[in-house]
Amino acid sequence: MIETLTHQELRLCLEWQVELGIDEAISETPIDRYELAAQAPRPAAPAAAAPVQAAAAAPAVDEGPGPVEAARAAAQSAPDLAALKEAMAGYEHCELKRGARNLVFCDGRPGARVMIIGEAPGRDEDRMGRPFVGRAGQLLDRMLAAIGLSREAPGTEEAVYITNVLPWRPPQNRDPKPDEIAMLLPFLERHVALARPEVLVLMGNAACQTVLQTRGITRLRGSWTQGFGLPVLPMFHPAYLLRNPHAKREAWADLLELKAHLEVPR
Ligand code: URA
Repeated sequence: MIETLTHQELRLCLEWQVELGIDEAISETPIDRYELAAQAPRPAAPAAAAPVQAAAAAPAVDEGPGPVEAARAAAQSAPDLAALKEAMAGYEHCELKRGARNLVFCDGRPGARVMIIGEAPGRDEDRMGRPFVGRAGQLLDRMLAAIGLSREAPGTEEAVYITNVLPWRPPQNRDPKPDEIAMLLPFLERHVALARPEVLVLMGNAACQTVLQTRGITRLRGSWTQGFGLPVLPMFHPAYLLRNPHAKREAWADLLELKAHLEVPR
């Protein structure tokens, strides 16, 4: 069918796919899935009584621990950050892993006073295997620099440590699903415990949902609260600030709040 399309029609198809959020070809040859569906044999209607008898006769199968229990066991057995990264790389219960190029674990300096928790890797982060390296990440770096913090700083005073709620990129950058957040939460909790920050900065609603079990970033931002046993400051996500530059005023106030907190003598 593709041979019958004009150059202009092909270009429009491509633009439409880009608009849908498709940004990568995953196969050399196009597959017409409508045609495949039409050719597929229809499943036979189930016999009325047979499945019940079969189910009753089937021996119990040990399916092993569920996704959350498996994550908890793997996370708890990791004695340090390197082991935690390895445990996450070996975790097979999350479908996102299959569509991602890289596990995006962290950036910055472990032991930094400030740990930033974002949402999930995007395309650039998935490619590079590092959090916040795209446009939102560049804005984040400028925001941090404005209050004297940086992920490259050699000392723990000026450094930050960065991770995300999800370590794998969701398809088309969709929002994390509640079951994905729940199954990966034990890893995030262990990550925070091993990185030992003094405060957490939560970037946007997904991080608030995960750490505070509540959303509403416009209401939450700029006020200290407690999460994972630590002082927590929710802020607008840098990607939101790119779309809503007028909100940078509030973001600046929140950065000053963070700076003031760090300056209080311990
Ligand atoms: N947005 C996030 O929340 N995290 C990233 O790593 C990149 C963009």
